[in-house]
Amino acid sequence: GHKRRPLIAGNWKMNGLKIAGARTLGQVIEGYDAALRAKADLLVCPPAPLLYTFAAASIGSGVAIGAQTCHPAASGACTGEISAEMLADAGASAVIVGHSERRSYNGETDADVRARAEAARRAGLTPIVCVGETREERDAGRALDVVGAQLAGSVPDGEGALIVAYEPVWAIGTGLTPTVADVAEVHAFMRAELRKRFGAAFADGVRLLYGGSVKPANAAELMAVEDVDGALVGGASLVAADFLAIAAGC
Ligand code: G3P
Repeated sequence: GHKRRPLIAGNWKMNGLKIAGARTLGQVIEGYDAALRAKADLLVCPPAPLLYTFAAASIGSGVAIGAQTCHPAASGACTGEISAEMLADAGASAVIVGHSERRSYNGETDADVRARAEAARRAGLTPIVCVGETREERDAGRALDVVGAQLAGSVPDGEGALIVAYEPVWAIGTGLTPTVADVAEVHAFMRAELRKRFGAAFADGVRLLYGGSVKPANAAELMAVEDVDGALVGGASLVAADFLAIAAGC
């Protein structure tokens, strides 16, 4: 049995147009049967233009809808940006912050990620804070240092809503995954770091997701790792049958 209820979250990234996306979401909702509900929570994070219709379509289904980033401010002169309040207004209940693609393509620092996580809480959303080392950092033996520094810098103070996702950069979209032992080491380390900072009562309730090339074929062994409380799924979340099969592996 799992210590925390598993969460399988799908990060659609910049994929999924209205019609095809609605069909995929419909298949996820339809496939989220009693057996799967008994195993895991499901969260679908589509591109922002789909949020409102997805949230409306998922009412009563048990499938939650989330966003992929948010701006730190609530409103204002920030052309092109979307606030956490707006995401909540559209029906999102969670938001991914600090995904490695945001960190590298948009230059988000730990402080930026933390501000976005704080904005999420302010708006009543659960932030999913992403951390993870590059290949070079792992090869240099620095994976835990990097993850520890990102956690310290990106997770807000206070015992608010929080999910953390460990996504080694080199495992994202590559078909490569760390060994089960490496995943176990990083997740145990993250739990220990959160306990040091917040105490066990809070830290032991935080769900720690693994992300990076999660597929139906490897989901069960990854989800069985102590301190892995679910997955953040990219490519495989775009195919409803695969996303559901990953949840079935919990
Ligand atoms: O946020 C999830 C993502 O970065 C993992 O992508 O395609 O390797 O499952 P993928």
